[in-house]
Amino acid sequence: MLERIATLRREAEAAIAAAGSSAELEELRVRHLGRRAELPNLLRGVRDLPPEERGPVGQAANQARQALEGLIERRAAELDATELDARLSADRVDVTLPGDPAPPVGRLHLLTATRREIEDVFLGLGFDVAEGPEIESVYYNFDALNHPPDHPAREETDTFYVSDDVVLRTHTSPVQVRAMEAHPPPLYIIVPGRVFRPDSDATHTPQFHQVEGLAVDEDVTMADLQGTLLAFARAVFGDERQVRLRPHNFPFTEPSVEVDVSCFRCRDGFMPDGSRCRICKGSTWLEILGAGMVDPNVFEHVREHGYDPDRVQGFAFGLGIERVAMLKHEVSDLRLFYDNDVRFLEQFG
Ligand code: PHE
Repeated sequence: MLERIATLRREAEAAIAAAGSSAELEELRVRHLGRRAELPNLLRGVRDLPPEERGPVGQAANQARQALEGLIERRAAELDATELDARLSADRVDVTLPGDPAPPVGRLHLLTATRREIEDVFLGLGFDVAEGPEIESVYYNFDALNHPPDHPAREETDTFYVSDDVVLRTHTSPVQVRAMEAHPPPLYIIVPGRVFRPDSDATHTPQFHQVEGLAVDEDVTMADLQGTLLAFARAVFGDERQVRLRPHNFPFTEPSVEVDVSCFRCRDGFMPDGSRCRICKGSTWLEILGAGMVDPNVFEHVREHGYDPDRVQGFAFGLGIERVAMLKHEVSDLRLFYDNDVRFLEQFG
């Protein structure tokens, strides 16, 4: 009997030590210690043995059961640990691997960046920023700006009419009159904004952006206009720039000028390799804006707001934001600004 117990114990110990998984171990527990296993049966039969055998057999069987239980427990703990390790290493995240590509960071549209750059220059010169409506009355867009009834800009081919007396503004100049109605002189404002004309080709889009400028005071002269625009040209296109004024015509300024800035790419119209400068096309000048001294006829419309044309005078100018951005960044087609192709847009800013 004692020998049988020892054999059972040895066999079970060997099997438990060799168990390769917790499932296998559970099977061994049932096989060697379960209700129908031989060792527990022997234990249960101890009381039927002759009295002198009960003690030694009971003790041996009990020790064998306890030893096997302890062994199973330790082996179970070992197997749990190995299985956890295996799961963990199969599951491991390598934190040193590169992550998903970072989401692209947005940036300002080149037109927004250019508008802000222009605003910064004029804010630095003491101008305030004003705004006005994009849907404008014919009065502010044309009449108060001294456009005669037969002026070509008033044609339906040049202007989007909403009704007979309401238009999508064709320029930011109507805000000149609105601002003078709202504020007495002296007045120094710039007006960035969207304007609309029915043109569409590589250098015209039906919608584009302007920055209007207006300075009205008692002693503002054309020299102030030139000095202001020179400061602007140097801030945006470089310290060396010069400006020149050429006679022009606008209904609401007199005299009127077109303003050129000296080319920032070449000195004499040619590139170092002898080819013609592609920015100024060899002319050494770049046309950047229209300007002039405010026509007294415009002041007549706001005379009762403190703008007596015998007492105040002023200059005004209007520049295209797209034009400045195209020149400065050598963009060849205006429509690129509105296609919103990120391959174009992400080159700037
Ligand atoms: N409003 C004019 C245009 O759009 C530009 C301009 C503004 C000219 C102010 C003179 C003074 O062409």
